[in-house]
Amino acid sequence: MKIVNIVGARPNFMKIAPIHRKMQRSDFFNPILVHTGQHYDEKMSKTFFVELEMPEPDIYLGVGSGSHAEQTAAVMVKIEKYLQQEKPDVVVVVGDVNSTIAASLTAVKLGIKVAHVEAGLRSNDRTMPEEINRILTDSISEYLFVTEQSGYDNLIREGIAKEKIFFVGNVMIDSLIEHLEKASELNTLEEYGTADDFALMTLHRPSNVDNKNVLSQIFSALSEIQADLPVIFPIHPRTEKMLHHFGLEETVASMKNLHILQPLGYLPFLNLMSRAKLLLTDSGGIQEETTYLKIPCLTLRENTERPITIELGTNQLVGVEPENILKGYNKAMNGSFQNSQIPPLWDGNASQRILEILHKTD
Ligand code: UD1
Repeated sequence: MKIVNIVGARPNFMKIAPIHRKMQRSDFFNPILVHTGQHYDEKMSKTFFVELEMPEPDIYLGVGSGSHAEQTAAVMVKIEKYLQQEKPDVVVVVGDVNSTIAASLTAVKLGIKVAHVEAGLRSNDRTMPEEINRILTDSISEYLFVTEQSGYDNLIREGIAKEKIFFVGNVMIDSLIEHLEKASELNTLEEYGTADDFALMTLHRPSNVDNKNVLSQIFSALSEIQADLPVIFPIHPRTEKMLHHFGLEETVASMKNLHILQPLGYLPFLNLMSRAKLLLTDSGGIQEETTYLKIPCLTLRENTERPITIELGTNQLVGVEPENILKGYNKAMNGSFQNSQIPPLWDGNASQRILEILHKTD
């Protein structure tokens, strides 16, 4: 079975890695790895290939940054030629980035089946570009691999035939389980010289970082948190650019216990995450990883497409109002999440289940 596995942006790499590797080892699959180049900085891309022991991409489309239309269109134009030439049986896409919808839309119009890994997640917030990418990708996919019950329920509600939906678990957790031991052997904390007790933060959503008012509110709460607990903040290129653009660099520099780092690789980040007292984030994947690791997570958003992380896990939606962020912080520090659970099928075998289903339905 000839498969094209698509990656484009940072959160795609750890999702495709276990799928691609298992396909390479099998006699049945012939996998080809295509990197769209949506993320291109060494720290946002290459590092992950090395750490996840992924082969160099077979094809690199090099689309780079641009507006949504430019980026999506560039992937479509470039991948169409390649798919026409290769004629794969299935194109596998993951997550909800622009490369995901671009590759799916191109493939389906060439009569190639699309398999969407992490299907069905819904924030019900259509101002998020990712929500649009999720809805559209799901509506044209032939295989919908879901990570949690809400994904299944959302797809049924949207009229997707249940024969196309497969509850397989979470491939991001496959990668986490596989790499946790290796990550724990690193001395990441010692390298950055911070205290043993610390919080870890990531921030990159346009709704948070492209708006001066919102960004200032988040940093106002952060100013209080870092006075209590040092905060390590590997900064996304978008966020770094916007802090500069809004002239907030001095505010940030005045926070003595806020340690800003360049984006970290997968293993150092996993090392810090597994040792942190809590996470502050607007990422989707980190809500899931902290739930698996049973580390409290404050999600700096008003909604989540991953409700299981709140129902069973360690996640709290705190939004961006300083008062609510601090309330969430106090709750987390008071040890409120000791009885959290790991969601069903987040067991390290999701990628294996995906391969079995693709094989069986060939
Ligand atoms: C994208 C995804 C988002 C995902 C995030 C993870 C979409 C719509 N968004 O957002 O869902 O959570 O990736 O990081 O697909 N930049 C660099 N170097 C890079 C990549 C980006 O400097 O390697 C800068 C550029 O200025 C670029 C900006 O970051 O314009 C935003 O990059 P882009 O790929 O458009 O979206 P992300 O914010 O990274």
